[in-house]
Amino acid sequence: MKGCPEMTHACGPVGDEDRLRLDLLRDGLGRSLFAGNIVYQETLDSTNDIAKEMALQGAPEGTLVLTDEQRAGRGRRGRSWLSPGRSNLLFSVLLRPVLDPDRVFVLTMILALAAVDALKKIAGLPTMIKWPNDLYVGHKKLAGILTEFSTRERALEYVILGLGLNVNWYPDDGTQVSGLATSVLAETGARISRSRLLLEILRGFENSLLKVLKGEIDGFYRKWNEISLIIGRQVVIEAEREKIYGKAIRIDEGGALIVQDKEGKQERIISGDVSVRWGEEE
Ligand code: BTN
Repeated sequence: MKGCPEMTHACGPVGDEDRLRLDLLRDGLGRSLFAGNIVYQETLDSTNDIAKEMALQGAPEGTLVLTDEQRAGRGRRGRSWLSPGRSNLLFSVLLRPVLDPDRVFVLTMILALAAVDALKKIAGLPTMIKWPNDLYVGHKKLAGILTEFSTRERALEYVILGLGLNVNWYPDDGTQVSGLATSVLAETGARISRSRLLLEILRGFENSLLKVLKGEIDGFYRKWNEISLIIGRQVVIEAEREKIYGKAIRIDEGGALIVQDKEGKQERIISGDVSVRWGEEE
């Protein structure tokens, strides 16, 4: 089917028009921080890796690395991120924020929140956030963020935020863990413009970033906790060497998860994979 304009709501079947529209992205971004240095390659290993190389070579803040297909997409904890070509959003942004390194998590948080808002606006799809870096629809993962940074003398040298978001793809096509992953298409039955979704995410993210840099952070923590999949639920966290059971209480200012055991003792978890123990809510 022809005539699937990039900037409209839902599109027809995949065709040539399904490519990322850099012209529309540039126009839409206007004078945005992310308009100045857009790097697109049809295929590459990992947008985070390219962004990191560029950061080390002095690339400016706001550099956006974008692709239609990754040969070696990476997830957290050494995992791979699989995505077929021309279907999903795969990008990284490079930031050089003046921010306490202990507060880097807020950047992951505002990118996730920007994606939640954009998905609601463009696709009408409500999503939830699963600590520390995932977007979920029900029990299925829709997107993940990989945040990597470097410090020098206790200051942030660069931060790279990479987002992988399943858009126009049926995850049960055999290329990924079927049953555990989902996409906008699988949830809504509609193909949407990846370029428009990306534009909306970047706009929202930039607005939030400006607030964060002015120290306006509390509202984001509140919203993050409100749309969290795990807060108030019984969870199990697979940390480095142990499994921790308890009730997820909140995410603190450092991005750690506060969990409370049956005796009421609270523990601060810095990293791990968390699952909800469905059916055991209190
Ligand atoms: C996770 O869920 O563990 C995070 C997944 C992050 C995947 C994205 S895709 C774009 C960017 N480049 C990568 O290699 N990884 C991130």
